[in-house]
Amino acid sequence: MGAVDSKQEGSKAVASIVGICGSLRKGSYNRMLLRALPELAPPGMTFTEAPPFRDIPLYDGDLQAETGFPAAATAFAEAIRAADGVIFCTPEYNFSVPGGLKNVLDWVSRMPGQPFAGKPVAIQSASQGPLGGARMQYDLRRILQYLDVPVLRKPEIFVGSCAAKFDEKTGAITDATTRDFVKQQLAAFATHIARYRAEA
Ligand code: FNR
Repeated sequence: MGAVDSKQEGSKAVASIVGICGSLRKGSYNRMLLRALPELAPPGMTFTEAPPFRDIPLYDGDLQAETGFPAAATAFAEAIRAADGVIFCTPEYNFSVPGGLKNVLDWVSRMPGQPFAGKPVAIQSASQGPLGGARMQYDLRRILQYLDVPVLRKPEIFVGSCAAKFDEKTGAITDATTRDFVKQQLAAFATHIARYRAEA
C-alpha cells in the first residue's frame, strides 16, 4: 500500500481509509492482506497505512499525567481522525488481540474527543491456523464497542491457513475465494461509510 493507490490518483475519493496492521514483523501476512486492498476496492476508495505504533510505551496513566501523550500515539490518533474509515488487518495472538495493537488503542482511547467514536471500521484477519483469527475478531469488536465504533457486521474476512493463500514474493493474494470475499467486504464497507456520513 502506498500513500495513495496510484490506480485511483486523480479520481475523487469516495472514502479515504486508514489501514492498521496488527503485526510488526516484516513478512507479515496481515500486512500483505492490507497492501492487497487497493486493487480489490471499489472506485474512489483510497488507502494509507496508519503511523507506526511499535515504539509507543506501554500505557501508563502516570506517564500520561507527567509528559502527556507520546508523539507517536498522537500521530496515530490524528490519522484516525482524518480518515473516513479504518480497516484492521491483524493476527490473532493467543486467541486475542496482539498486545502492541491493544496498547495503541488504550492510548488513543484516553484522548480528548476520542478519535474512534463514530468512525466506521472493518476488520480482517489472516492466521496460519484454520480459523483465520476469528477469536481475535470478536475480542476486537468488544473493545471497539466500548469506543463507540460502528463496526461493519458482514461479510467477515477470516483468512485461515494463510501461508497457502499469498505469494510470499509479491505479497499478492493468490486464493480466488479470498480475493472475492475481500472485494465483497470492501464494497459493503463503502456503503457502511456512506450510511454513517449521511447520518452525521
Ligand atoms: C500466534 N499465532 C496464532 N494463530 C492463531 O490462529 N491463533 C492464535 O491464537 C495464535 N497465537 C499466536 C501467538 C503468538 C505470540 C504468535 C507469534 C503467533 C500464529 C499466527 O497466526 C501466525 O504467526 C501469523 O503468521 C501471524 O500473523 P502475521 O505476522 O503473519 O501477520
